[in-house]
Amino acid sequence: MQVKVAKSAGFCFGVQRAVDTVYEQAEKGVRPIYTYGPIIHNEVVVEDLKEKGVEVLNSLEELKKVEKGTIIIRSHGVGREIYELIREKGLDCVDATCPFVKKIHKIVDKESAAGKEIIIIGNDKHPEVEGIKGWCRTKAYVIESAEQAEELCASETVPLCIVSQTTFNYKKFKDLVEILDKKRYDKIVVNTICNATEERQTEARQIAGEVDAMIVIGGSHSSNTQKLFEICRNECENTYYIQTVCDLDLEVLRSTGLVGITAGASTPKKIIEEVQTRCLN
Ligand code: F3S
Repeated sequence: MQVKVAKSAGFCFGVQRAVDTVYEQAEKGVRPIYTYGPIIHNEVVVEDLKEKGVEVLNSLEELKKVEKGTIIIRSHGVGREIYELIREKGLDCVDATCPFVKKIHKIVDKESAAGKEIIIIGNDKHPEVEGIKGWCRTKAYVIESAEQAEELCASETVPLCIVSQTTFNYKKFKDLVEILDKKRYDKIVVNTICNATEERQTEARQIAGEVDAMIVIGGSHSSNTQKLFEICRNECENTYYIQTVCDLDLEVLRSTGLVGITAGASTPKKIIEEVQTRCLN
């Protein structure tokens, strides 16, 4: 059996960087040490970090109760007030915000300081959007559907700056901007979508089209893994979804020549390598 692993399988650059940062700090012996929110939506990783002394703060209230130690900001980023609170409390801050998210913070900070109101195209409940809102000095609107774009009634006399959540779908972003175009607002549009997700999907589609069987690895609640599975299934009937190497059924793969492997955004490299090794042995 031959195996082809997608280069873009698993963590994107920003998440890998954030996870590495936490491990580095923990291994340096920094204590007490906290991440503001789970560093990644993967219980295995969060548990492993807990054993190494890394605690997760799940809310602002929990952060307020911390008296000493180091707070690590995850790749999603946070609003200005969180940095201020960390500073006021005399805590150390290690910032692992993805540079692509940081760029959005800078844009909305600058444009709102110049008087523009901000439109964020994305999911209002997502922590990344929460963080972006926290850098807006003027009013910030969050829209994610055509209805919300139609219903938006920002003042026509105030200029606008439109940005996007990094993981938003590009086609949908374009559609929503078109709706806003019809309203003739004075605006600038900055496409801040990160193409890590799209690259992962494109590569998965391409590999699934070449192989005899395809394995998609990811968490059971991961919507991006589900999406990867659908994409691969469309190209390759023998597509299997697994969470870890324990779910791998080598019997069904035995008669296949070339097997492809990809993984969702929260799948650690270690799990991908274990699956690859098992297929090869
Ligand atoms: Fe990942 Fe950063 Fe893009 S966290 S999805 S590389 S914006």
